[in-house]
Amino acid sequence: MKLLVTGGAGFIGSAFVRMALSGTEDLALGNLDVLSYAGNLENLVSVSDDTRYRFFKTDVADAAGVEAVFAEFQPDAVVHFAAESHVDRSIHSPEPVIRTNLNGTFTMLEAARRHKTARFLHVSTDEVYGSIDEPHDADEEYPLRASSPYSASKAGSDLLALSYYTTYKMNVSVTRASNNYGPFQFPEKLIPLMIANALEGKQLPVYGDGMQIRDWLYVDDHCRAIRAVLDKGRAGQVYNIGGSRALPNIEVVQRILAATGHDETLIKYVADRPGHDRRYAITSEKVERETGWKPQVEFEAGLAETVRWYKENAAWIANVRSGAYRDFYEKNYGAR
Ligand code: NAD
Ligand code: DAU
Repeated sequence: MKLLVTGGAGFIGSAFVRMALSGTEDLALGNLDVLSYAGNLENLVSVSDDTRYRFFKTDVADAAGVEAVFAEFQPDAVVHFAAESHVDRSIHSPEPVIRTNLNGTFTMLEAARRHKTARFLHVSTDEVYGSIDEPHDADEEYPLRASSPYSASKAGSDLLALSYYTTYKMNVSVTRASNNYGPFQFPEKLIPLMIANALEGKQLPVYGDGMQIRDWLYVDDHCRAIRAVLDKGRAGQVYNIGGSRALPNIEVVQRILAATGHDETLIKYVADRPGHDRRYAITSEKVERETGWKPQVEFEAGLAETVRWYKENAAWIANVRSGAYRDFYEKNYGAR
């Protein structure tokens, strides 16, 4: 199979690429990535010499560039990860989010349509359902109530992807995963930010009262689910992928403090995120029933492995915390 992955230099995409190439499967894997601030070829050092792997430095919203990749690589299947993925950045600067997440998905779908690509998997998020009140858990029919420019752009791109099934009969599926964590995650998201700050003895900025609830999914479990949906998912269907581990943010932060040998004096409660969703909660019953997938990594084990990885990869953290990272950090946290 010739598999084209977009956003394969990011956190989840690179885990998927490493996993796909870890066996001896007869596979040609193309990685289409523009290398935004979140894209890092250091995440792919372990596969860069694999003869089954090719890298295309291309913007998903550049129609001519995407067409050239399709014409040359002729993929049988696409797994579309590429996105602007951070909610806070989408609040400060929505424009790149709309361009990449909406226009980029459109460009990818159009190329797949022209080239009659056999399978298209659009990677999306549980954030499209917005905040979910107790005691409900969202299934795939739950209304879309996106709160941030990021989640609205993902909801829009989900609908666009599904319209290519309805209108053009393309073999499209959509996955909606909960909060991922694990090695190689950019230290702007809650878990890697808190670990990186704690390792330096810096303050841990908790938004609002810290009682917002997220459902944590280890990145390798997410990648296994994506592979299962790619192989066994039905066209025109949406599949939720949850970690079955809902925790308030403050509890996650307390666990990170314990794992890094600090006490709670490092916690700093700061101004809340505008439009902050209180609770995410999804049911993954459909993907489990149709593909046999289940999450395998318990939160305790996944968090321990993640803390270990960040402790041992100080150079990776230092490298991604470039001047541009410091500008974002000051913009997001300076006034809080
Ligand atoms: P990430 O920010 O770590 O990586 C995004 C990747 O996309 C980077 O390699 C970046 O260079 C690339 N990219 C950005 N703009 C691009 C463009 N215009 N053209 C080509 N490549 C571009 O993101 P992630 O956390 O790995 O998320 C991957 C996907 O999974 C996204 O679609 C996101 O919405 C979805 N998702 C993420 C989570 C999570 O918790 N991180 C949960 C559910 C769904
Ligand atoms: O639910 C899936 C989504 O999870 C993905 O679609 C997104 O790409 C991913 O970024 C993530 O979105 P969240 O907004 O939930 O993740 P984030 O790590 O930014 O924040 C998690 C929670 O922690 C959220 O309630 C906000 C809070 N938080 C976050 C940061 C960065 C803090 O309290 N302090 C912080 O500094």
